[in-house]
Amino acid sequence: CGIVAYVGSQSALDVVVAGLQRLEYRGYDSAGVAIQVADSSGQWSLATDKRAGKLVNLEKSLAQAPLPAGTAGIGHTRWATHGGPTDANAHPHQDDHRRVAVVHNGIIENFAQLRAELADRGHTLRSETDTEVVAHLLAEAFEGDLAEAMRVVCRRLDGAFTLVAVHADAPGTVVGARRNSPLVVGVGEGENFLASDVSAFIAHTREAIELGQDQVVELTADRVTVTDFHGAPAEVRGYHVDWDASAAEKGGYDYFMLKEIAEQPKAVADTLLGRIGTDGRLTLDELRIPDAVLREVDKVVIVACGTAFHAGMIAKYAIEHWTRIPCEVEVASEFRYRDPILDDRTLVIAISQSGETMDTLMALRHAREQGARVLAICNTNGSTIPRESDAVLYTHAGPEVAVASTKAFLTQLVACYLVALYLGQVRGTKWGDEIWAVIKELSQAPKQVEQVLRTMEPVRELARSLADARSVLFLGRHVGFPVALEGALKLKELAYMHAEGFAAGELKHGPIALIEEGLPVVVVVPSPRGRSILHDKIVSNIQEIRARGARTIVIAEEGDEAVVPYADHLIRIPVTPTLLQPLVATVPLQVFACELATAKGHEVDQPRNLAKSVTVE
Ligand code: G6P
Repeated sequence: CGIVAYVGSQSALDVVVAGLQRLEYRGYDSAGVAIQVADSSGQWSLATDKRAGKLVNLEKSLAQAPLPAGTAGIGHTRWATHGGPTDANAHPHQDDHRRVAVVHNGIIENFAQLRAELADRGHTLRSETDTEVVAHLLAEAFEGDLAEAMRVVCRRLDGAFTLVAVHADAPGTVVGARRNSPLVVGVGEGENFLASDVSAFIAHTREAIELGQDQVVELTADRVTVTDFHGAPAEVRGYHVDWDASAAEKGGYDYFMLKEIAEQPKAVADTLLGRIGTDGRLTLDELRIPDAVLREVDKVVIVACGTAFHAGMIAKYAIEHWTRIPCEVEVASEFRYRDPILDDRTLVIAISQSGETMDTLMALRHAREQGARVLAICNTNGSTIPRESDAVLYTHAGPEVAVASTKAFLTQLVACYLVALYLGQVRGTKWGDEIWAVIKELSQAPKQVEQVLRTMEPVRELARSLADARSVLFLGRHVGFPVALEGALKLKELAYMHAEGFAAGELKHGPIALIEEGLPVVVVVPSPRGRSILHDKIVSNIQEIRARGARTIVIAEEGDEAVVPYADHLIRIPVTPTLLQPLVATVPLQVFACELATAKGHEVDQPRNLAKSVTVE
């Protein structure tokens, strides 16, 4: 969910709604606002509006029935957890007398008990949400000081929550509380902001304060006061946001996703920048784990979700090949529940674009409890996952707004390769000509991605011609297998089609039964150079599916002539060592899914049911 709040001298509604537009990527099931307003006799009340569906529904409603003007207010855009996406379940939620309004991100685990208690005390709960209990509890606890009421209430809540509230009897004050999911203060002059991330207020101020775990903040137009849940003053550190505001805009593209696909050469180059020395050696200064510790690592475990998990799968091939350290990779949501074996010689790598994914955060906390060192690979400065890790390697993709990850994925791959190579460097494993050659090739990646992007028109044409396909399969071997999974995930996310990725060798053990006349099958072919046996095997697989009627869409390196006779459609990618091939092979699959979804009339930036940053388990 996305939260934004404002107190100052501008129209709070305008600031809040503009902020919500920036935060819609965090969820778009419903949206709402509450503004403090005074009538002609100086009586304060809260004016609210909330609507199911995307933010535009709320905007339409506000245009039809405008709220009175006010200079303090809160807003929310929701990704439903408790209670379906209806008007009633939309935030803000209010108490019986509508004096308090509260918005919430997360889950209040003891809400059923609190709800029962409130009902016993005569409160009427109007929604199915866990959030509403907070509004009633705040109303009960309020004795003139909203921050104090918030602290009292927070001490009673279990679970992960970030809350922001206003009270009609505390005009000019907004209060927030943070446990787990992020909350950032934007410090302005004569105005202050509160939001799930800085993009909501970057148009107004670049000075920010990230709230820590279990802190309460009270904002007025000219004061920011932070305490812990017991009222003790908390130490906070401000920082300057150096993002380019235009980077968060569409920059002339129809969709953020198109812009982000096009930005990949730069994102990859920025992520490599300053990390490869002129002597070909790597410098990862930010890696605060001493080399001596890295030399002792006897196992690497990668945890991540969604697209980041696919980056982790590819990293496993690179890490094991270049360092000879055993490496496991697991979806973060499964990891801690199977009692994994970890100790102080285990290096856990948590990959996350947002740095806020709750599944990944919980996996890393579990790993640290077991004594493992955690390295985060993350795209969002100051987010929770890097803050709770022993070290972080930032990807420099810039803000990624489209829900389906593209440029963040490519930079995650780059970061994984850098970590793998660096581990090889400090441990001296296989360090020699092969690795130097790889580093040289890696520095060519931005150019190669650019080259792929220039040749995408036939891919778009092909995608449009497949808009009516019922299903698409994706096959790969070695690192081409996770690429196939990622291609299928993109198509599911964007085109809402049945799409599945398989290890090409596994096909004959079951999935081949799915092949029928005309079924499109995308095959990612490894380089014929080097380990050509891998290449030969997949060429056989292409023949097997074609013999059964599949329409083959083959992604193969330039100059690979062996695939030509079996490819109904051939997509060429630059010559690259197999381990690095995902950097170029994924790009046509992103373009393919984006174009196919657009042809079906889907909104690619905000696919149904998804959210960019999922801060619940
Ligand atoms: C959500 C998004 C996915 C993303 C995953 C992990 O499910 O819809 O696109 O891959 O979270 O996100 P993270 O921010 O941790 O990389």
